[in-house]
Amino acid sequence: MNYGYFDDANKEYVITKPDTPAPWANYLGSPEYGAIISNNAGGYSFVKSGANGRILRYHFNSDDTPGRYIYIRDDETKDYWSASWQPVGKDLSVYKSECHHGTGYTNMKASYAGIDTEVLYYVPMNKTYEVWSMKITNASDRVRKLSAFGYAEFSNEDNYNQDQVNLQYTLFITRTYFKENKILQAINENCTGSPVNGSTGKNRFFAQTGAQVTSYNGNKDSFFGKYHSYGDPKAVIDGKCNNELNYNSNSCGALHSAIELQPGESKVITYLLGSKNEAEADEIIARYQSEDAVCKEVQELKDFWHAKLQNLVVKTPDAAFNSMINIWNAYQCFITFTWSRAASFVYCGERNGYGYRDTVQDIQGIIHLDPEQAADKLRFMLSAQVDNGGGLPLVKFDHNPGHEGTPDDPEYVKETGHPAYRADDALWLFPTVYKYISETGNKSFLDEVIPFSNKGEATVYEHLKRAIQFSEDRLGAHKMPAGLHADWNDCLRLGKAGESSFVAMQLYYGLVILKEFATEKNDTEYVKYLSDLQDELGSIINSECWEDDRYIRGFTEAGQVIGSKQDKEASMWLNPQSWAVISGVASKEQAEKALEKVHEELNTAFGVRVMAPSFKQHAFKGALSLLFNPSTKENGSVFSQTQGWIILAESLMGHGNRAFEYFKESSPASQNDNADVRILEPYVHGQFTESAESPFEGRAHVHWLTGTASTVMVGCVEGILGLRPDPDGLCIAPAIPSEWKEITMEKVFRGCKLNITVKNENGAEGGYKECYLNGVKLEKNYVSATDLKDVNDILLVM
Ligand code: NOJ
Repeated sequence: MNYGYFDDANKEYVITKPDTPAPWANYLGSPEYGAIISNNAGGYSFVKSGANGRILRYHFNSDDTPGRYIYIRDDETKDYWSASWQPVGKDLSVYKSECHHGTGYTNMKASYAGIDTEVLYYVPMNKTYEVWSMKITNASDRVRKLSAFGYAEFSNEDNYNQDQVNLQYTLFITRTYFKENKILQAINENCTGSPVNGSTGKNRFFAQTGAQVTSYNGNKDSFFGKYHSYGDPKAVIDGKCNNELNYNSNSCGALHSAIELQPGESKVITYLLGSKNEAEADEIIARYQSEDAVCKEVQELKDFWHAKLQNLVVKTPDAAFNSMINIWNAYQCFITFTWSRAASFVYCGERNGYGYRDTVQDIQGIIHLDPEQAADKLRFMLSAQVDNGGGLPLVKFDHNPGHEGTPDDPEYVKETGHPAYRADDALWLFPTVYKYISETGNKSFLDEVIPFSNKGEATVYEHLKRAIQFSEDRLGAHKMPAGLHADWNDCLRLGKAGESSFVAMQLYYGLVILKEFATEKNDTEYVKYLSDLQDELGSIINSECWEDDRYIRGFTEAGQVIGSKQDKEASMWLNPQSWAVISGVASKEQAEKALEKVHEELNTAFGVRVMAPSFKQHAFKGALSLLFNPSTKENGSVFSQTQGWIILAESLMGHGNRAFEYFKESSPASQNDNADVRILEPYVHGQFTESAESPFEGRAHVHWLTGTASTVMVGCVEGILGLRPDPDGLCIAPAIPSEWKEITMEKVFRGCKLNITVKNENGAEGGYKECYLNGVKLEKNYVSATDLKDVNDILLVM
């Protein structure tokens, strides 16, 4: 069963049935002002921080309330409904709705009782307030007397936690005012002054344009009445608010307008919300006296986002693949890049910084679309590398390069809660720096001088050298990098001196990349040093970790082997198999065997499990995943982030059929018709999907903010589509399902347009026969950047 469809032409997902199995969300705004909205208008808003700048309330882990509600009442029949299906929730046989989630805006359309409404929700570009603009149309053939009520539930405190739990304080610090067309909320007014006379303190406003305010409430309880809730506010039932404001109670903004519409007539009422005092609010309100402002601003958002997404447009025979790569996976990469793990319907906004590895990986997802935006964040993350080469496990949002403590400082540990370095954090820099330089050709990036987080500064090249040194300075008993606090897997505690094969492979890959940079720089001695290290590490990994048909997961500090085929549980782990291929450490024979075993032991209808069987009774001491139910999260689920790596690994081996099989099993869009099983939005990746040992196999969790967005993007673009830039040009090596006869890709590469056609009449799944650039046959499937014109036709025959 599906609840909607992909409208690729408009870059929207259209929800046609509002009773979705979970709130299906969209993101509005920027880090300066963020808003999350569900298909039923549930969600919250915040200035800068979801935890500390909360303006609108939301009940987490509950019923998707409250939200940005607009209630409509027929003042003759006294019937009432909402412009989003919920919260009133009219019978769906008579209430029709469509929610269009687009890029930076959501458009909610509804028809009921001869009245059509269309509400555009958005945060204008570079602005710090939000707009809900409702066009209400009388689609019946008689004059209609109606009431419209806009409702915003302010938090009583910027701090989310305080607002929720410290009620003996937060209930007594706010009050509201009504002024002409707006409600103003003051917090701690005695300390910071009143919003009605230019206070600079914490103020919020909720205003409307397009109709006179007939009545209002600034007091939540007055609007709803006792024993009523979001679905049946007393004010709406009564047809008017009682003009009460709050004082020592919960505040809100509720604005009511009585309107009359002739048959066919429309009216636009625009609600505005933000954290501003009266004068600032009035300035904003003045901009919305005509409908043009809204049309113009929404168009600006579309132009901005669509231009970004235009830098890679692919056409394959698989509609779900196209929707994900061209629009939704790409958009999710930008959203994750922007919001990190800060605020969603699962994350309450309490994370006060960027996770090192998460963010360095998130950057990879947008490099092919906006390399310079990626580079800015990459510089930032390099400035969060300690001068010993390790990454700060948590990089505070107000990170101050050159002046930060490190995990060796009790202060840093106390402030961030992160007690130690992780073995892998800085190793993620290698593929990310390589991808940026390869996409842009900007080799001088390596010479840019960037501060370390604690003290000193060095070139990017030197930063990378130190990352290698960091691992080399902390080797375990087998001379592989020591586990330290953890590796990518938060639930795998091998002990400080334990060793993770995954990290060893990441280090190996880092050595490969740095050797390429060092060779380019004629840093001959260092090239030799890296070569020797690489050879040594490669043979250690292959002698200590290769077990006949798989790589083990590592060694605990006490020397116990984890992930051996002899183990009763967790005998097969996904990441060492995919990373053995990605890093290049596996021989062809090892790679083929390991990948085959992955398919045999870990593959399911919903993707590949992170490991199997789940831990139940035979976990080792550091196996924190035992805390989770079997087939859940790190304990044997389909951990979505890892799907990108296995897709990439299969593609690198030229296994297009397998790579695509894994894409299809785990891709949200491919599950559009299975929404009652998957539950999560069919247009975004989640963190994990419950697997075989769960009674709810196929149910996905933790929407939007996940490293999955970037790994799957990379797996599909570099892997399946085979677009693999290097510092001098572009290698094109698709690994596609053999039944695909043709794919086309339009890519902007270093300012040039590439129109790439891949022809596959012979039913291949990898490899190529011929490759042409602008009609000239090339020696191999590699286009040198120096041969590119402004517009180029590239043909690859498989
Ligand atoms: C932490 C990583 O940063 C995150 O991306 C991943 O989802 C989990 N580890 C897996 O345990």
